[in-house]
Amino acid sequence: MKNVLVVATVVIASFVAGIAAAQQKSPQKMSTEAARGKYLVQTAGCNDCHTAGYASSGGKVEEKLWLIGDTLGWRGPWGTTYASNLRLSVKDMTADQFMALSRSELRAPMPWFNLRDMTDRDVKAIYAYLKYLGPAGKPAPRYLPPDQPPAGPFVQFPAPPR
Ligand code: HEC
Repeated sequence: MKNVLVVATVVIASFVAGIAAAQQKSPQKMSTEAARGKYLVQTAGCNDCHTAGYASSGGKVEEKLWLIGDTLGWRGPWGTTYASNLRLSVKDMTADQFMALSRSELRAPMPWFNLRDMTDRDVKAIYAYLKYLGPAGKPAPRYLPPDQPPAGPFVQFPAPPR
C-alpha cells in the first residue's frame, strides 16, 4: 500500500513538473505576420548591426538576444552612432509611430533609405516581430557628436574622397 502511494506521488509530481516545463518551453505562439517580420529581419540584414556579434559569428546568436542593440560605435563625419535596441524602441510605440520612424531619415550607417522603401505591410510585419520578441536588454549608448571621442570600441569610417 505504501509503495503504491509512493509511486502515485512520483507519477503526480513528474506530471506536474512536465506541465511546468511545457509552460516554460512554449513561449507565445508567433503570428504569421510576426513570422514574416522575422524572415525580413533575417534577410534584410537588421541583425547585422542591431544584434551584437551577429555579423562576426555568421549569425550564430540565439534568437532571444536578437535586436537588443550594440555597444559598438560607428564613427564618421556624422559623429558616433550605435545601433539602437529596437525591442526597447517599440516598447511604447504604436504601429503607426513605428511606421513614421521607418519613413524618416536616420543617421549613418543605418540604411534608413532601405527601410523607407519597404512596403507598409513589411514594416508592420517587422513591428509585429519586435513586439513578439518583447522588451529586453539595455538601451544602446547615446549618439555622440563628431567632436566627442567614443569611450568604447568603434568602427572608424574613412573620410570621403575629395
Ligand atoms: C549598418 C548597420 C545597420 C543596419 C544593417 C540596420 N541598422 Fe537600424 N540603425 C543603425 C544605427 C547605427 C542606428 C542609430 C541611428 C541614429 O543614431 O540616428 C539605427 C537606428 C534604427 C532605428 C531607429 C530606432 C530608434 O529608436 O530611433 C530603426 C527603427 C532601425 N534602425 C531599424 C532597422 C531595421 C528594421 C533594419 C533592417 C531592415 C536595420 N535597422 C538595419 C544601424 C543599422
